[in-house]
Amino acid sequence: DWTPDAFVETTVADLKQKLGDDKVILGLSGGVDSSVAAVLLHKAIGDHLHCIFVDNGLLRKDEFEQVLESYKGMGLNVKGVDAKNKFYEALKGESDPEKKRKIIGRVFVEVFDDESKKVENAKWLGQGTIYPDVIESVSATGGPSATIKSHHNVGGLPDYMKLQVVEPLKLLFKDEVRRVGKSLGIDPAILGRHPFPGPGLGIRILGDITAEKVRILQEADSIFINGLKKAGLYDEVWQAGVMLLPVQSVGVMGDERTYENAVALRAVTSTDGMTADWCHLPYEFLAKVSNDIINKVKGINRVTYDISSKPPATIEWE
Ligand code: XMP
Repeated sequence: DWTPDAFVETTVADLKQKLGDDKVILGLSGGVDSSVAAVLLHKAIGDHLHCIFVDNGLLRKDEFEQVLESYKGMGLNVKGVDAKNKFYEALKGESDPEKKRKIIGRVFVEVFDDESKKVENAKWLGQGTIYPDVIESVSATGGPSATIKSHHNVGGLPDYMKLQVVEPLKLLFKDEVRRVGKSLGIDPAILGRHPFPGPGLGIRILGDITAEKVRILQEADSIFINGLKKAGLYDEVWQAGVMLLPVQSVGVMGDERTYENAVALRAVTSTDGMTADWCHLPYEFLAKVSNDIINKVKGINRVTYDISSKPPATIEWE
């Protein structure tokens, strides 16, 4: 019978055997999978695991600082890299969703590659790939899910890095990864996190990306997500976020006429992201979030709630 404790024990022993004194590089994303993979590898080889956490400027509000702290608290040997401006520069003026994804993927590879070269004699690349990622990247050869939107979780690194890949979670499903994480003592706040796309807020800002739009969206998103947590709704939702729409509309604030952006709140229930239903969040909750966003976030004067399910809509708007 599969148990997380037994999995940890045999996997750590196997990793020790396989890796010996070799150095491993691993990119942390703040998500469940890369965190669990990192802690497993760290348990096996200690500081021979070199983690890199890149701030692409498209993370949630304060997330880079908070997650970096919590990684350090877990004893991981982690380097945080602030590459915000590189990403903003490369994305300047680009509105096409797939092109934005490609730019974000390419710049990530460049930044990650530069950083990994600083770790001398690294032999391995650690990855938090889980079983559903393997299936999805196989279907990328022709399956509809991959051709509609390009996902970057698997095989995103260039061949010239010449590193062997080590993927300790490759045979696990998400719930098993969470159980392994729990058995490793990882913070429940990390294990219970909603999925978050690799291109981050970059695909939740419809149209072109600027640092100012990111700031506005981060504020609105943080009100929504913290609201869900405070209302005890966070764990009932599979994924949630805010979309910044390229639409301005007229509003009134005091005696002033405003002409500002609209946002859409998105919250869905799902088991795997392939299909999803919009969450029937309480009206009182939505009213409070809407009020808070409009009153506190300068630049937004209208809040809508997305009541589309997948299919035919998708979870993200891009
Ligand atoms: P959609 O919008 O296709 O999203 O219904 C399904 C799930 O995939 C996530 N998603 C992505 N994740 N890179 C990622 O790593 C991407 O380009 C990407 N696009 C969508 C989305 O957040 C949802 O969990």
